[in-house]
Amino acid sequence: MTKRLDGQVVIVTGAGCVGPGWGNGRATAVRFAEEGAKIFAVDLKPETVEETVERARAVGGEIAVHQCDVTDTAAVKDMVAACLSRFGRVDALVNNVGGSAKGGPVEMDEDTWRRQIDFNLSSVYLTCKHVLPVMVEQGKGAIVNTASTSGIRWTGAAQSAYAATKAGVIQFSKVVAVEYASRGVRVNTVIPGQLHTPMVEARLAGQRAGGNVDALLQTRLKRIPLGFMGDGRDTANAALFLVSDEARFVTGTEIIVDGGMSARCD
Ligand SMILES: NC(=O)c1ccc[n+]([C@@H]2O[C@H](COP(=O)([O-])OP(=O)(O)OC[C@H]3O[C@@H](n4cnc5c(N)ncnc54)[C@H](O)[C@@H]3O)[C@@H](O)[C@H]2O)c1
Repeated sequence: MTKRLDGQVVIVTGAGCVGPGWGNGRATAVRFAEEGAKIFAVDLKPETVEETVERARAVGGEIAVHQCDVTDTAAVKDMVAACLSRFGRVDALVNNVGGSAKGGPVEMDEDTWRRQIDFNLSSVYLTCKHVLPVMVEQGKGAIVNTASTSGIRWTGAAQSAYAATKAGVIQFSKVVAVEYASRGVRVNTVIPGQLHTPMVEARLAGQRAGGNVDALLQTRLKRIPLGFMGDGRDTANAALFLVSDEARFVTGTEIIVDGGMSARCD
């Protein structure tokens, strides 16, 4: 049977994870590999990609790892060149790097605010800047950017820089989608909700619940109508659809992966 991404070359940024298990980037790299894609796995910390590589190879995938800080202009340019040199093309780009910092405008210092913009938004601009010309030259390409329900709703804590940058990712994706539609490039956004990924244990519980992981998980779970928490594999499946030819008529839009959380207002 033909796989959904047979032979397609996909750059996944943040293809590692803060801990063992299914973060969004790792799950995307592995799920896409399972569907026949050649994965160019990009991460600031190559050691975090080891588990991704193991899992991708276990499902018969081809995967190459490239170390890159996606907030660094020169490094991103080199990264795209390295992908071309390794695989000869770029069929899809999944921008997954990002994360939250706590605080509203009064508590957050200016450095943190600016770092959040670089981390969540400039990273997406930079990879698109260097990948779009390649896709235009090929006459085809698909980009999936990763936002967050924090970019469309209050999600339980003050994190204004995260919310603003993720809202920025959504609108950036829409306007780039329209600009590049006639050149065969589709651009969409996945909006994950409150997932149970390794990041919850590694970072979020400390930020939000004094290190009490169970308390944070219970609070997050209560908000989700479906009554369970998804993980990176749910984000990956949405991204897979958006990258695949099944979504050939889908551009400039979003898939919300949140168990119904953003649809409720009680
Ligand atoms: N985990 C969630 O519950 C959740 C919910 C909504 C949205 N998201 C979004 O999903 C994305 C991934 O989150 P996650 O929690 O699955 O990831 P994660 O934090 O577990 O992993 C991200 C990876 O990105 C890498 N990375 C960090 N900075 C980088 C840089 N400058 N250049 C290259 N690589 C870098 C890290 O080394 C890490 O391996 C983020 O954009 C996040 O905002 C996550």
